[in-house]
Amino acid sequence: MYNSKITGLGFYVPENVVSNDDLSNMMDTNDAWIQERTGIKERHWIEEGSEDTSAVMGAKAARIAIEKANLTKDDIDFIVFATLSPDYYFPGCGVQIQEMLEMQTIGAIDIRNQCSGFVYALSTADQFIKTGMYKNILVIGAEYHSNGLDKTTRGRGVSVIFGDGAGACVLSRTEDNNKGILSSHLHSEGKYADKLIVPSPSIKNWVPEILASNGEDISYFPFMDGTFVFKHAVVRFSEVIMEGLTANNLTPNDIDLFIPHQANLRISQFVQRKFKLRDDQIYNNIMNYGNTTAASIIIALSEAFEKGKIKDNDLVVLAAFGSGFTWGSVVIRW
Ligand code: UT7
Repeated sequence: MYNSKITGLGFYVPENVVSNDDLSNMMDTNDAWIQERTGIKERHWIEEGSEDTSAVMGAKAARIAIEKANLTKDDIDFIVFATLSPDYYFPGCGVQIQEMLEMQTIGAIDIRNQCSGFVYALSTADQFIKTGMYKNILVIGAEYHSNGLDKTTRGRGVSVIFGDGAGACVLSRTEDNNKGILSSHLHSEGKYADKLIVPSPSIKNWVPEILASNGEDISYFPFMDGTFVFKHAVVRFSEVIMEGLTANNLTPNDIDLFIPHQANLRISQFVQRKFKLRDDQIYNNIMNYGNTTAASIIIALSEAFEKGKIKDNDLVVLAAFGSGFTWGSVVIRW
């Protein structure tokens, strides 16, 4: 069995910054409410007319990650792409990356696990490397939320939270069994699928319904029972972090950097208090990006690394919770 380690990181967010005040011109909301309830100050939203999509942003982040790994596109054996906002209902964004980066006809899969998407994607890639099947895997998380949000007061409980962006890493085989991904822990609880969901388009609700609805059918917008999701998030985050630490005979004290999925600053702060983590043991950037779902952890990881917050041998813990419900953690010795 081999270990896998992250050898290159990159992220891309659209230039267009949307402040909380900008949102208050679109709907009945305000900067004070958004900052107090979520910690978000601004997010990046793709501008109308831009070429950016989840796949395009993912490709931009991927090019940086491959370069930082000192590899070329031809060294990549496989693509794992996590998103809930793919360019097409099918095919997935993974195959678009293969084409956009002019790669060989390597395999590509999409992971549909929403906020836990990157954790699931990283874990999936890790298994392929552990078994020796692949050496270098491109793992991408990208979301184009802004075009699918209800930007009226009706949708304010959801739409102020989400941002667009992409992050990518190259996961590579290492012979050093003490380094890289130590373990990953994945969970789901489908009975709560309807608490955070975009019900349409679905095979049950298809083109005739879209045409008939004249924009009044809200099943095309994300729905979230925010309070319900929040309560489950804090419990599941805590459980899955402990699960990861216990599996490796570690304690919260051993964490050098914890990167939670950026769902809500209040959730991150709850977890920080619960595990008595110092400010330098946790990295949050939701203030500037909002919740970018499958992209949030990999954008935060790339940014933290760029800022020199991760050193060789550090213990880095990633954890996520979101729609499904799904949740998971990955424990990494850098
Ligand atoms: O990333 C995937 C996982 N997602 C999460 O983990 C998110 C978990 N949930 C949350 O982060 C929070 O529940 C939210 C940020 C979504 C909402 O915060 P909350 O403190 O739970 O607020 P609430 O939904 O209970 O709403 C409180 C009030 C309501 O008004 P009334 O009924 O008290 O009069 C809402 O209508 O705030 C109102 N409200 C707003 N006001 C201004 C809801 N959204 C807004 C808004 N601006 N954008």
